Amino acid sequence: MSRLVVISNRIADPRKTASGGLAVALGQALESSGGMWFGWSGKIVEDGTPGEGELHLHNAGKVQLATVDLSREDHDSFYLGYSNGVLWPVFHYRLDLADFDAGYIAGYRRVNQMFAHKLKALLRPDDIIWVHDYHLIPLAAELRAMGCQQRMGFFLHIPLPPPLILAAVPEHDWLMRSLFAYDLVGFQSEADVNHFARYVGTETPADILGEHEFRAFGKTLQVQAFPIGTDVDEFIELGKGREAQEMFEQMRGEYSRRRLLLGVERLDYSKGLPQRLKAFRQLLQAYPENLGSATLIQIASPSRETVDAYASLLQELESLCGAINGNFGELDWMPVRYIHRTVARKRLPGLYRAASVALVTPLRDGMNLVAKEFVASQDPDDPGVLVLSRFAGAAEQMREALLVNPYDTTRTAETMQRALQMPLEERQRRHKKLLEGIREQDVHWWRERFLAALAAVPTS
Ligand code: ADP
Ligand code: F6P
Repeated sequence: MSRLVVISNRIADPRKTASGGLAVALGQALESSGGMWFGWSGKIVEDGTPGEGELHLHNAGKVQLATVDLSREDHDSFYLGYSNGVLWPVFHYRLDLADFDAGYIAGYRRVNQMFAHKLKALLRPDDIIWVHDYHLIPLAAELRAMGCQQRMGFFLHIPLPPPLILAAVPEHDWLMRSLFAYDLVGFQSEADVNHFARYVGTETPADILGEHEFRAFGKTLQVQAFPIGTDVDEFIELGKGREAQEMFEQMRGEYSRRRLLLGVERLDYSKGLPQRLKAFRQLLQAYPENLGSATLIQIASPSRETVDAYASLLQELESLCGAINGNFGELDWMPVRYIHRTVARKRLPGLYRAASVALVTPLRDGMNLVAKEFVASQDPDDPGVLVLSRFAGAAEQMREALLVNPYDTTRTAETMQRALQMPLEERQRRHKKLLEGIREQDVHWWRERFLAALAAVPTS
């Protein structure tokens, strides 16, 4: 049987806590199938030579981890500069935050070439190669240039923007052409597939052979939506564990007289945190029965803190939380508890279960696994309510959530109030449907569908 080789910039030991949808989902996917996971070691070598990095190999259960260090220069231009200073903001529709410094692209290419070079030495002819996310779009093109003929698939974890936004990236034509080196490209949502088809139709000489098939640059490419899921059964099991139970008891004990609203994410401007806090402030103003009762626990784990846009978001958030607590707080009640930290994965289900309402209100998001984890953690007899942004990829699947436009503060606050007041029967009905959906389309379904589609691509 062919070996699965997964490549992503961020990798994690599948047996440990990770924050970020990609690391969590790939850990779950690889733990069941086994295989190799190749990516950045997380180590930055201060005086390292650009384009060079030491390779480390070790086993984590059934998974072989192959990791490469990055020199400071490569880290700053490839990871911070091009991946998170250009591609991340543009792909999340934030042209205003993009830093199109011409120097970053050289580092992006250099690291992709280095990854291809190191990986090639580890590959077997019948390996199935599955590359992930925006850091590594040109990886297949580099591997093909070195003579690799294996089947190669690519999955984008973040959204693909409409063609006119994408076209703002100075190298957009090169990037999109690089995708044609893969056999299969997967996106999170139908909206992304639609943006890809429109881009190809207007900006490339491609022939559109079908809804999911495009031919250009001497290559045929299959493109489909594969919405990523979470391991629902594993998460339910985690919820029965000691750590989750203790977390639940502690929260229920501490907040026995209060109603909890919860947000959990990386501290990222795509997540709509300032807008959420403003809507929560509006909830307290417009519905004063929540004073002394509604408490927002906002967990935001540190992420990419040396990128300017992240540093200013941190300040904005701290000042908003301080202002809400200062204006509305009492000696025995603080409306916002803001925690700038990662919560251990084993404790997360207990936290989700203690919440009456989850606020998953990104301005734009590829998928959002937190929404799915919240649903998986609920007590079906007395479930909490999911308030979900219509701009999250998850909104295409999770139609029984309360969908909001996070830019609309007044109506988001109204929806929070509706969620807090929702009758038990309606909560149960919505939760049942949501749970059925995420169980049917879980992380294993995602992996199997993608790999089956890749295996079915005719080889030329
Ligand atoms: P993204 O990939 O943009 O970070 P997702 O919601 O898809 O967003 O995935 C985030 C993953 O990381 C989830 O599995 C979530 O449980 C985990 N995570 C995010 N923030 C935290 C945190 N503060 N503490 C613990 N886990 C977190
Ligand atoms: O899921 C989106 C994503 O950007 C992943 O690619 C990434 O691993 C994760 O969020 C966390 O970001 P980072 O790897 O920059 O810490």
